[in-house]
Amino acid sequence: MVTDTSNGDGKTGKTRGYGHGEVDTIMSVDDVARQAEAMAEGAPDHAALHALVDGVPEVAIDGLRAGYGKMEILHNLTLAVGKQQSLCLIGPNGAGKSTVLHSIFGFTNIFAGSITVGGTDVTRLSPNEKLKAAGVAYILQDNSVFPDMTVEENLWMGGFLRNRPAEAREAAERVFAKYSRLRERRSQRAGTLSGGERRLLEISRALIMEPAVLLVDEPSIGLEPRFIDMVFEILEDLQKSEGKTIIMVEQNAKKGLEFADIGYVLVSGQVAMAGPGAELLEDPQVGRLFLGG
Ligand SMILES: Nc1ncnc2c1ncn2[C@@H]1O[C@H](COP(=O)(O)OP(=O)(O)OP(=O)(O)O)[C@@H](O)[C@H]1O
Ligand SMILES: [Mg+2]
Repeated sequence: MVTDTSNGDGKTGKTRGYGHGEVDTIMSVDDVARQAEAMAEGAPDHAALHALVDGVPEVAIDGLRAGYGKMEILHNLTLAVGKQQSLCLIGPNGAGKSTVLHSIFGFTNIFAGSITVGGTDVTRLSPNEKLKAAGVAYILQDNSVFPDMTVEENLWMGGFLRNRPAEAREAAERVFAKYSRLRERRSQRAGTLSGGERRLLEISRALIMEPAVLLVDEPSIGLEPRFIDMVFEILEDLQKSEGKTIIMVEQNAKKGLEFADIGYVLVSGQVAMAGPGAELLEDPQVGRLFLGG
């Protein structure tokens, strides 16, 4: 920030730089956190969350207390999403959004509560068991391609996890038929792809794994608009054409809520607000806190 005391017209004390013009309208990180806490007072209950589900819940979390080591991050959390529905979690940094996905996939310590997928209790299953038994796949917040393998081999890996290499190859061809970006690079080492191309590869690998439930952490992070659109296109394809259930965390709250059937605002390890994605998008409080409006 630059303070200009000699701006030529005889006036002094003008502030330039980051502070210029908008000082009053910028909310601090602490303000967002405090106001988000206040939102949690009217938190939706179990029945309200289940009312957002279309049909029978494909994934249901009930009374979950979970965290890392002995530290509890999620406090009595409820979540429910139907088959072929998508749910997007938004909320401040550190609210526990990734921890919800980690818990479903089996990366956290679970102190109480239950998680069911397709009616099966998976609370105590390992990640590997979940992928096989319940068909849950997880796309990590950070890079998870195998850099020394080609694009094509990376896609096949999605199938090897399920012990069906032949079907994986067929599914890979379907991905290449749809996405020329990847087709043109099928024999290229994945390590040489751009960040956006790598993201496409990670997400399209989910098409090969054929999970019933897909957990996606921050699909649009670090991507330019063109790639963001492509990533959401693949996710839409997964949900609408392939019938997958999608639970995602998205820092780009506008994109996430536009996409998702159901939106949750997570604050301090609890669901503070929930509604159809399109409704949350219109909510003035959500707009002010998370959409920069
Ligand atoms: N592996 C871990 N071990 C210990 N604590 C962790 C671990 N991962 C996350 N935490 C803590 O759990 C809390 C919730 O983290 P989480 O990553 O779920 O937040 P988030 O809502 O995804 O935030 P962001 O928007 O920054 O990604 C944070 O206080 C974080 O420090
Ligand atoms: Mg996170």
